[in-house]
Formats: sequence, structure tokens, C-alpha cells
Amino acid sequence: MSQIVFITRESDPSEQRVAGSVESVKKLKSLGFDVVVEAGAGLGSRVPDAEFEKAGARIGSAADAQGADVILKVRRPTEQEIGGYRSGAIVIAIMDPYGNDAAIAAMAAAGLTAFAMELMPRITRAQSMDVLSSQANLAGYQAVIDAAHEYDRALPMMMTAAGTVPAAKIFVMGAGVAGLQAIATARRLGAMVSATDVRPAAKEQVASLGAKFIAVEDEEFKAAETAGGYAKEMSRDYQVKQAALVAEHIAKQDIVITTALIPGRPAPRLVTRAMLDAMKPGSVVVDLAVERGGNVEGAEAGKVVDLGGVKVVGHLNVPGRIAASASLLYAKNLVTFLETMVSKETKALAVNMEDELAKATALTHGGAVVHPAFGGANGGDK
Ligand code: NAI
Repeated sequence: MSQIVFITRESDPSEQRVAGSVESVKKLKSLGFDVVVEAGAGLGSRVPDAEFEKAGARIGSAADAQGADVILKVRRPTEQEIGGYRSGAIVIAIMDPYGNDAAIAAMAAAGLTAFAMELMPRITRAQSMDVLSSQANLAGYQAVIDAAHEYDRALPMMMTAAGTVPAAKIFVMGAGVAGLQAIATARRLGAMVSATDVRPAAKEQVASLGAKFIAVEDEEFKAAETAGGYAKEMSRDYQVKQAALVAEHIAKQDIVITTALIPGRPAPRLVTRAMLDAMKPGSVVVDLAVERGGNVEGAEAGKVVDLGGVKVVGHLNVPGRIAASASLLYAKNLVTFLETMVSKETKALAVNMEDELAKATALTHGGAVVHPAFGGANGGDK
């Protein structure tokens, strides 16, 4: 009997993404799975049930989760959803694990093998499964679109018979995946772009996209990158120097887009109220880190607020604002990961908990929390 993959309709009404696509369903079928898609799962991403059906899926209801061997989701399952899964099932989602120990424990208690896509190691083999990259890339793009929407001037320089519109000045803070895409998008729209980051590797990447790099380049900066390629939390002293440089620069900008994150820590505060006050009226600041505490003082999650004439944009779930594209990439991330758990010979699920990718992403297995970062012993088998 073939094994069943269930693709859920997200229960959070603000989530427009779906953990499947026409392509991913076809791929799952070719791997030997039966695929059940919860009715209406793709609507927010413009995939009607009929499209999933045409790709080979059966359309079912939430009750079908009970029979599934693998459940693919966008967000961590709620307690109620967990109650509908059978013990031993695999659940793969963006689990948002930090600070959510109780929810992880609930998945362990339910006997689920839960994998957190955002913990995927950043190694070459896992690049096509890297959900942080796939979603952050689109968030960076969307941040510029959102900024342009709120900004009541044109972004490119326009020389017309009626006069010249100057190019907008856009400053991108944090030049990781989202920031680099924001830079590229802002450049395509004709803005004059500058950017900052605390990782020295970002300097060249920013320059290669045609933007100006702005940073305090002291000894601490030169060492400010973890082996995994992430930012370290900077010293108080560095933050003060960085703030002074940034304050001077920001006062001359029309649009600021902040994307700075440190894994497992609150987002660094980079833009103060005083810096906002120094900006011209009509300027726009987009805080992509608002969900993780925010880079911008006064930014409000889920809102666009006017702070002294500066619009501060704090949309939640920015990849979900470009859901059709985000789902397409996320679904591919999921299927590529799931494929690593399917035996080539038997075409059956054969999860090797010792595999590098499974080990890095497994939160719970065999009734226990297994990830060391969340109280598990070693991430190994039961
Ligand atoms: P992220 O989302 O954790 O953070 C965004 C950016 O904010 C980072 O560039 C970080 O250095 C920056 N930041 C943190 N504190 C800051 C501060 N105080 N001021 C200014 N900027 C600050 O990072 P993301 O986008 O996930 O990627 C970071 C890097 O990881 C990439 O640029 C790349 O080098 C590496 N990476 C490697 C991959 C692979 O090998 N498969 C895939 C994707 C990324």
C-alpha cells in the first residue's frame, strides 16, 4: 500500500501560502506517494482544488490527516491539528521553534516526527531545501514593492519636458538574502541604493549589486560572522558607533528597508525614533524584522504607522503577501527534503535520523524532543 502525503489547508486565516504546488504534487506522485490535499488549501495561492486534482491529488478534508504518513504544512500545527494526526506521522513545516517549547513538547507527546524547515543547514546539498532563503528572497522583493506603494514619489529619476523627478534614495539595513534581493529590486526600479551589514562578506555582495556599502569597519566587524555564515550579536560599543554612522546616513534617505536578524535572538534595534524624526516627511521605513521584535523603534506588527510624517511599515508574514510565488518555492523546498527520506529501492519512507539534514531539523521523534537546542539530548534516534 502506498504511503500518504497530506497537504493541509492552513488554519491561520492570515496565512495565504500552501505547502504544495501542482509541480510538487506531480513529484510526490512520481516518488510513489498518494497525495491528499485538504479542500481549499491552495486558494490563497491561486491554486484551485481542480489543479491539484489534475496533478494527481485527491481532494479531502481535515479528517484525512489521520490516515497520513506525512503531513506538509506551512505553519506549525495547532494543538487541535496535532490531535488529528496519528502517532508516528511525519510533520514538516516552518515550526518557529524558538520560545515555543510547549508546542514542541505537544508534538513529542503526540508521537510525531516533526521537522522544522528553518533549521535546514546551509550547506550546498541542502540549498534547494533552504526555506529561509526561498522565503526571505521574496520578502526582500516585496519590501521594496510595499515601500514604493507607500512612497508618494517615483523611485527612478525621470527627466521629462515638465521637469526632473529625482531618483529615490533607498538604504537597506542587513544584506542577507532578503536585503540583497531588496537591493537588486530597488536598483531595477531605478533608486539610488546603499546598504549596511555587520558581516564583512556582505560588503562585496552589496558592491556587486551596484549599491554603496556603509559600515563601521573595525576589528570587531572583520570577525563578525559565525561559521554558519550568520551575524553575531555585536558589542554595545560597536552598536553605538554603528548608530552614529547610520543616523547621519538615514537623515538623507527617502526609504529605509531593515532586514537585520540574528538567529535565535531578538532582532537588533537599528533605527531609533530620533533617526526617524531626522528623516524628511513622506519618507518610508519598512521593517522586515517586525515579527522578531523589530529593527525600528515604534514599528508595529501588522500595521503601517505614521511617526512624525514618516510611514513605518510593519507588515506581518511578508512572504505571504506574495503567496503564489512563495508557495511555489516552499513546496519545492519541502519535496526536495522529503525525497531524501524515501528509499530509492523500495520507494517507501525510510527516515534516517542520523542523516545530517534530518538531524539538524528534527524537533521531535519517538515521543521525545530530540533537538539539542530545544531540550533534546542529541537529535539521534530513539
Ligand atoms: P538573517 O536573515 O539571519 O539576517 C539578515 C541580515 O542581517 C544578515 O546579513 C545579518 O548579517 C544582518 N545583520 C544582523 N545584525 C545586524 C546589524 N546589527 N546591523 C546590520 N545588519 C545586521 O540572514 P540570512 O539572510 O538568512 O543570511 C545570512 C547569510 O547566510 C547570507 O548572506 C549568506 O552568506 C549565508 N547563506 C548561505 C546559504 C548556503 O550556504 N546555502 C544560503 C543562504 C544564506
